[in-house]
Amino acid sequence: PSQCSSIPNAMKFDCYPEEGSTEDKCKKRGCCWAPAGKSQTENSSVPLDVPYCFYPQGFGGYTVHNITHAPTGITAFLKRSFKSPYPNDVPMVKMVIMYGNEQQLRLKLYDPSSPRFEPPYPEVPSLQKAVPQKDYRVEVDTQTGGVKIIRDANNITIFNTQNVGALILADQFLQLSSLLPSRNVYGLGEHRSSLRLPLDWQRFVMFNHDTVPTENQNLYGSHPFFLVMEEEKNSHGVFLLNSNAMEVILQPAPAITFRTIGGVLDFFIFLGPTPSDVIRQYTDIVGRPYFPPYWGLGFHLCRFGLHSLNETKEVMNRNRHAGIPLDVQWNDLDYMDSSNDFTYDKKRFRGLPEFVDHLHKIGMHYVPIIDAGVSAGERPGSYPPYDEGLALGIFVKNTSGEPFIGKVWNRVSTVWPDFTHPQTVAYWLKQLHRLHWQVPFDGAWIDMNEPSNFYSGTSSGCPNNNLEHPPYVPAVNGGKLFYRTLCMSSIQHAGHHYNTHNLYGFSEAIVTSFALTEIRGRRPFVISRSTFAGHGHYAGHWSGDVYSDWHSMEMSIPQLLSFSLFGIPLMGTDICGFNGNTTVDLCQRWMQLGAFYPFSRNHNTDDGIPQDPAALGPAVIESSRKALLIRYSLLPYLYTLFWRAHAFGDTVARPLFIEFPDDPETYGIDKQFLWGPALMIVPVLKWGETFVTGYFPKSIWYNLHTLGPVTAKQQSWHDITAPLDTIPLFYRGGHIIPLQSPNMTTTASRKNPVELIVAKDEDGKATGSLYWDDGDSVNTYEDKKYSHVTFTLNESRLRGTVVWWGYDAPLMLGKVHVLGIGIPVRSVYVNQVAHSFSYNSGNQFLRIKNLALPLNQNFSIHWV
Ligand code: GLC
Repeated sequence: PSQCSSIPNAMKFDCYPEEGSTEDKCKKRGCCWAPAGKSQTENSSVPLDVPYCFYPQGFGGYTVHNITHAPTGITAFLKRSFKSPYPNDVPMVKMVIMYGNEQQLRLKLYDPSSPRFEPPYPEVPSLQKAVPQKDYRVEVDTQTGGVKIIRDANNITIFNTQNVGALILADQFLQLSSLLPSRNVYGLGEHRSSLRLPLDWQRFVMFNHDTVPTENQNLYGSHPFFLVMEEEKNSHGVFLLNSNAMEVILQPAPAITFRTIGGVLDFFIFLGPTPSDVIRQYTDIVGRPYFPPYWGLGFHLCRFGLHSLNETKEVMNRNRHAGIPLDVQWNDLDYMDSSNDFTYDKKRFRGLPEFVDHLHKIGMHYVPIIDAGVSAGERPGSYPPYDEGLALGIFVKNTSGEPFIGKVWNRVSTVWPDFTHPQTVAYWLKQLHRLHWQVPFDGAWIDMNEPSNFYSGTSSGCPNNNLEHPPYVPAVNGGKLFYRTLCMSSIQHAGHHYNTHNLYGFSEAIVTSFALTEIRGRRPFVISRSTFAGHGHYAGHWSGDVYSDWHSMEMSIPQLLSFSLFGIPLMGTDICGFNGNTTVDLCQRWMQLGAFYPFSRNHNTDDGIPQDPAALGPAVIESSRKALLIRYSLLPYLYTLFWRAHAFGDTVARPLFIEFPDDPETYGIDKQFLWGPALMIVPVLKWGETFVTGYFPKSIWYNLHTLGPVTAKQQSWHDITAPLDTIPLFYRGGHIIPLQSPNMTTTASRKNPVELIVAKDEDGKATGSLYWDDGDSVNTYEDKKYSHVTFTLNESRLRGTVVWWGYDAPLMLGKVHVLGIGIPVRSVYVNQVAHSFSYNSGNQFLRIKNLALPLNQNFSIHWV
């Protein structure tokens, strides 16, 4: 038909996503058939996955039955006008458009006549407000119900479902497509890919799964959120609140298709207009990042295969002796008795409680692994974590109502606590307490919580039903949903595992974070492998079992930055790699980069060589020391960024485009990144190279190592020298960065006087701030038990202003460096009194030492 031939390849929306389409089967669906070989594509960069079977123009699907406009939004009833190829179409769909505020709205499509699964978390505020002034308008096509959301300021349509693909709401197949206003799309995790996502028929599957991070595979977490940088440099974001297995297709139109196999279509749309606004608006809905303890920002040492306490001590001590700053010693499951949660091996790890006490005495902390599954094969009466869970009935159940049994690390078999069950909160608290009474650990590393299972289902598979074998299976790893996880028809309090699978790790993180706070009465530290939208409100994440290779190191940056967009700033990758053997050259560079992961941990597998810095000889030791000492000196700045993330939804590790949205050159950059607005990190990612090409956006930049200005042209790429022991780092003009002299732990470094780096911009101005509290109490910000000082530079006067002083510990300003002073300084006055100083004419900076200014009082320093 003519509605077929005029459709360009890029605009073809797949009408037959399952295998085995033929012309006949395609036409039966009312769709167009045109095998598109590479030669037929108008753009040779479009690979073969142009769908052969695609929707004709104006396919429709639903027609508007009734539509009402109100000040709070629009409600429409859409009547189904065709039978989809999937069973149990929803005959009448209710579509509600709810205005949230000027920049935020919600678009929800569901079955008004029968309730369907909706994720119990994250808890989202219910929008539907009369918003007198909006930055957008919504147009609903009165025939098809297609929706256009238009940015009023420039009339750009940011979301457009009118005549795009086909809307389908069937019981186990829900689909909606929208045109995108630009090709700069980010997010859609968890995946390994470039930061700016490819649009050449890419399929992003979201179904939490334990697999070695690889391109085009569904990984440990699910984040159905994307952010767009529009052509006119505004930004918007879209979040689909849905926890079912799904896939998202990006195609060159540019367009996006969401295809999920359960729940409802519940979109939140954020109008920015800046990318930081979008992220703030997103975390308004899913929850702001939690505030980690200060010690959690130190360096962490771990490995699988520290077989005894002696080995653990030996590795830790050799690094301390080598002068590597270290805050947290970890143990993998080696510490457990027979890999059973909440136990420790009293032979190989004899003395563990005393060791942890000792760590506390020397200002360090201890984090053990806790696996999601609980052993089900112990002698009755010998393993309370199983017996108690059984009595409470809190394990995930099979279709007969018995505990669902699979196997992970445990000797015989494994069951899984159902973290959506209200009683699991007390259960989990009790188990963690049981371990804590013996070993006073400080944080929890929650692993295998996708949940991962060594069987696909039980030892004898899964029942044969429509949850295990739905009519449409997204392109998940392993080809079936229950591949190396629980059966989809197993039962949790919140619903079938089919619906809750992607929420398992998230629910565990929520309960673990609560339990840790109860037990320790301090800020929780939880790192989880599995995540879902909203996870950052409770915990952090690491990127799982990456290979020890250069490619994995490079890909860790887009991974980190994507999690910043997801509101999970506490993120890192196993430094030097997890799987396989690292090398001295790789680990030297990776320790440098890893010193700038917000969560900085060296960890590897039990069959790899030792890779703690001290094990790899002088080159790795020197580079690690150098980079980590810089990290430790920057911790007051990093901590202030984490506070801002928690309080306002700012990002910590930051893609360049967030700071420079007006510069499209930054949109594709993912080999360098920022900490907040003021520090740029340009790591070397290639073997043997001693320079790196970096982009310098429009700003004055100062080399952190010399404090001298970067003389190269702004808004251009250029080569930076990077000797093997050095990672290039740059301060940005216009910012004041608080530091402290580093020490071997954060407990010690926190006691040092504060220092400031004052980096002037073109107008001789700079601003910055310091947030300070005891670093470990809960709710310091909420309870106003913190201190906050801002710093401002105007030409040749630096002022410190106390905004709030609620944490009354002595804190001194000891030293100030003012960068970018071209003319030699003759005199310096501190609160009007002459003070000694030195001026470095080569690198054009002023150094003022021995200040001893109490930061609870305003101060002023000026120079002539
Ligand atoms: C998983 C984790 C890894 C850990 C291992 C043993 O593979 O991702 O970090 O070392 O299990 O517990």
